[in-house]
Amino acid sequence: MKHEIVLEPSGIRFHARDDQSIVAAASGQGIAIRHGCGNGSCGDCKGVVLEGEGEQLPFMPLLLTPEERAARMAILCRLQPRTPMRIQARVQERETWQATVLGVGSLAGNVRELRLQTSRPYRYQAGQYARIAVPGQDGEWRSYSMARPPAEDGTLVFHIRAVPEGRFGTWLFHQARPGDVLTLGAAQGEFFLRRDTEKPILCVAAGTGLAPIEAILQETLDMGWRRPIHLFYGARRRKDFYHLSLLEEWTRQYGHLQVTPTLSDMEDHDWGGARRLLPTVAAHGPWKEHQAYLCGSPAMIEAAVDLLLSHGLPHEQIHFDAFSPNS
Ligand SMILES: Cc1cc2nc3c(=O)[nH]c(=O)nc-3n(C[C@H](O)[C@H](O)[C@H](O)COP(=O)(O)OP(=O)(O)OC[C@H]3O[C@@H](n4cnc5c(N)ncnc54)[C@H](O)[C@@H]3O)c2cc1C
Ligand code: FES
Repeated sequence: MKHEIVLEPSGIRFHARDDQSIVAAASGQGIAIRHGCGNGSCGDCKGVVLEGEGEQLPFMPLLLTPEERAARMAILCRLQPRTPMRIQARVQERETWQATVLGVGSLAGNVRELRLQTSRPYRYQAGQYARIAVPGQDGEWRSYSMARPPAEDGTLVFHIRAVPEGRFGTWLFHQARPGDVLTLGAAQGEFFLRRDTEKPILCVAAGTGLAPIEAILQETLDMGWRRPIHLFYGARRRKDFYHLSLLEEWTRQYGHLQVTPTLSDMEDHDWGGARRLLPTVAAHGPWKEHQAYLCGSPAMIEAAVDLLLSHGLPHEQIHFDAFSPNS
C-alpha cells in the first residue's frame, strides 16, 4: 500500500510504500533527504513525525534519547509509513566540491591514506565525514571521515580500509592516480568534540575508526587542552596497526595522553601488549566520570555503548560514529 508523505518545511510531496523507508522512497523519486549510512547507525537522517503513523524498525541504540522519542523524533532511514505522514526532515545539501587526488599512500597492508585538495574551502569539524562519489559508478556515494582537523591549505586526509570487492576500495587501491578528480558532498555527522565540559576523555577506536579520533585528538592538542585522554586502539593483527609510532610520539610529548593498543587475533605470539579491545577498556574503568568517543564497526560500537552504560556513564556523554557498510 502507498501513502502520501509531505516533507516540512520544504513542502515536497512523494509516495512511499509500506515496505519502504522514508529515505529510500524519497531517494527513488529523486528527493534527497539528508542521510549518511542508510541503515540506522549514524543518526544523520533524524526527523520529526508531525502527523501520521509509521513503524520504526530497529536502529543503533542511543541514536535517539528518551526526550527525542517523546518528541516524536524518528530515524527516517528505518521508518516505514503506515498512514499518510507529514514529516520534518532536512534535505541533503546539493552543493558539491571537486577535489584533486594529491596522493595515495600505504598505512598498513589493507589501509591507504588518501590525500585530496579541494578547489575551494571545505568546511567541517574534526570528527565529521565527507560523502564521496565512487568514480565511474553513477549515484554511488561512500562516507569517509576526515583524519585531520581542517587545514589552512585545504588538504583533506582519509584513512581507508579495503573490503573484499569494495567499489570505492577497488578504485582507490588499483586505479587512483594523483590528479584524479573526486566529487564530495558537504561534511556531515554529529561526531565531533564537545567543548562544554572539563571531563576526562575516553576514546575507543577500532581499525580505521582511528581516523576521526585522530582528528579530534589533534584538535585538542592544537587547542592546548590538557585534560586526561585515554585512547584504546584495537586492531586484529599487528600488521593492521598504523600510526602507532605517531601516537607513541604524542604520548611522549604530552603527559596527559595515554594510548593502549590492543590486538584481537592470537596469531602474533610475541605481542606483549593488551589483547581484545573492550575487555581491556573494561579493565581500565570505571568510566562514569568520562566523556567517550567511539569509532569502528557497528558491532563494536553497540558492545562499547553497553559496556559504558553498565559502568554508569550517562548516555549523553557517549558519542560514536559507526562505520557501517553502505546501503
Ligand atoms: C559515517 C561513516 C564514516 C565512515 N568512515 C570511514 C573511514 O574513515 N574509513 C574507512 O575505511 N571506512 C569508513 N566508512 C565505511 C565506508 O563508507 C565504506 O562502507 C567502506 O569503505 C566500503 O566501501 P566500498 O565501496 O569499498 O565497498 P562496497 O562496494 O560498499 O561493498 C562491497 C562489499 O563489502 C561489504 N562491506 C562493505 N563494508 C564492509 C565492512 N566494513 N565490513 C565488511 N563488509 C563490508 C558490502 O556489504 C559489500 O558486500 C565509513 C562509513 C560511515 C557510515
Ligand atoms: S542515515 Fe539513517 S541512521 Fe544513518
